[in-house]
Amino acid sequence: MQNFVYRNPTEILFGRGMISEIATRVPAGAPALFAYGGGSIKRNGVYDRVKAALKSHRVVEFGGIEANPLYETCLTAVDVVKRERVGFVLAVGGGSVLDAAKFIAAAACFTGADPWDILRTNGSVVKAALPVGTVLTLPATGSEANGNSVISRRATREKLHFTSNHSFPVFSVLDPETTFTLPAKQVRNGVVDAFAHVMEQYMTCPADAPLQDRLAESVLHTLVEVGPMTLAEPRNYEARASFMWSATLALNTLIGCGVPQDWATHMIGHELTAFYGLDHAETLAIVMLGVWQHKLAQKRAKLEQYGRRVWNVTSAEAAIAKTEAFFNSINMPTRLQACNISSEDAAAKVSARFAERKAAFGEHGDIGADAAAAILRLRA
Ligand code: NZQ
Ligand code: ZN
Repeated sequence: MQNFVYRNPTEILFGRGMISEIATRVPAGAPALFAYGGGSIKRNGVYDRVKAALKSHRVVEFGGIEANPLYETCLTAVDVVKRERVGFVLAVGGGSVLDAAKFIAAAACFTGADPWDILRTNGSVVKAALPVGTVLTLPATGSEANGNSVISRRATREKLHFTSNHSFPVFSVLDPETTFTLPAKQVRNGVVDAFAHVMEQYMTCPADAPLQDRLAESVLHTLVEVGPMTLAEPRNYEARASFMWSATLALNTLIGCGVPQDWATHMIGHELTAFYGLDHAETLAIVMLGVWQHKLAQKRAKLEQYGRRVWNVTSAEAAIAKTEAFFNSINMPTRLQACNISSEDAAAKVSARFAERKAAFGEHGDIGADAAAAILRLRA
């Protein structure tokens, strides 16, 4: 096992009715920015519950944050934060609203000339940020309990992420009832995103970390069990609750302690969203299977372990086939063609981006421009 530092400062407030807890956790005094998305929270009552909890606070609303949140929108919010002297950012919604809030909170305290540097440097220039709290309505990203944020720039069709210890939420409310109104497509996306987060930290090479392996496999087992259950019974609170907690555990930095990590699937996937507008999880389902096919020899030991323990099959090839069948069974496409994308076009565009940035991912740092192109060609 490699050395590691583990610190997760986010307080989780889990369960029915927990939104009211924010009343005592959002600081009084300076106004709070209440950030939200395109309006789902107004339709399902979450907006009213947040407003009721904050009835004694000064609140400045900022709605309209897009899925795959835009840099341009975040900068407008930063202007509001500065003008209104906001002291706290409360994000209410899915991963996109949470990620936007983290970027807004960091950009508001950024003293450099160009806030895009926060993303260009993967967060290393972030020295401070306003505190962020969240009310999560979509289990998927793990953003509610990590220091990551992913932002898209419309003008240049880029999608970049940053990570900072200053960007962990101070609290996150996870009330499974707020997820009852999710469209089936977003549930499917959440299951696949959480699944892929586990895999980025698990499907590498053996690392003498049996506990991390077992924790990862537990999250996978649970997702395989409760994902389809949630889709079949949208008002099953217990299924929703286990799904929600699984998605948090998949990327709250716990299962990745002391083990090699891959992340090539996510980095190639972000380019597919930037170029073609695919949902984040759609890109992952397509690319992850390609990464495994391309790196079959290097990943064979872990693929076999995963196959044995999660699907009861003995070969790496059968483990890949089982995973693809699982994704397809919840209506997730696993081929570029199913999304009307030419694999040659995708290979050319993504590999040019990787070459320009001298990017290399994977547990051995060997997934660069050429490997990205080969992986996408495998997923025609
Ligand atoms: O905008 P509103 O109206 O709120 O609607 C949203 C949006 O249209 C809707 N929605 C959310 N909760 C709902 C609901 N509709 C009905 N009922 C509810 N309870 O769902 C749609 C998608 O929301 P979004 O926040 O975009 O989805 P998700 O949570 O999957 O977030 C995706 C973003 O997170 C990034 C992705 O790249 C993408 O930009 N990621 C962030 C990560 C992180 N911070 O650690 C890691 C991930 O790998 C990922 O990259
Ligand atoms: Zn993801």
